Amino acid sequence: MALRNIVKDGDEILTKVCRPVEKFDAKLAALLDDMAETMHKADGVGLAAPQVGLLRRVVVVDIGEGVIEFVNPEITEQSGEQECVEGCLSFPGEYGITKRPYRVVVRAQDRNGKFFELESEGFRADACCHEIDHLNGITFKSRTVRMLTQEELENLK
Ligand code: NI
Repeated sequence: MALRNIVKDGDEILTKVCRPVEKFDAKLAALLDDMAETMHKADGVGLAAPQVGLLRRVVVVDIGEGVIEFVNPEITEQSGEQECVEGCLSFPGEYGITKRPYRVVVRAQDRNGKFFELESEGFRADACCHEIDHLNGITFKSRTVRMLTQEELENLK
């Protein structure tokens, strides 16, 4: 496993639409391993392939319950609404309030190409929406109702 460089705000790759994964090979497995390691090292709860410079539909999420790997994920159901405080490893130090569905069902493939569905609520639903947005070139800043103020940021710490 190896750490990958996290692409930061201003890099065009963050605005591009990613291509589906077609080959479920050792290269994909290595990418998933590296993304999980990179996310953990950066204290993140999610990471999408464009954030490590690859336009591929690959996402990892770990809100503290273990790594979930999503290849070619799609949101197939969503319901409810929640206000979230969101940040992003590509936008260090910036946090905003977003509105997301409270519950989502994600259909995706695992690293071997096998399809699965995962239902999430609350924080994990937020993380799934945030990461899947990255695959479509959408960052959390275009979803924010407003950014947090300096004072609110202090209180987060
Ligand atoms: Ni992000």
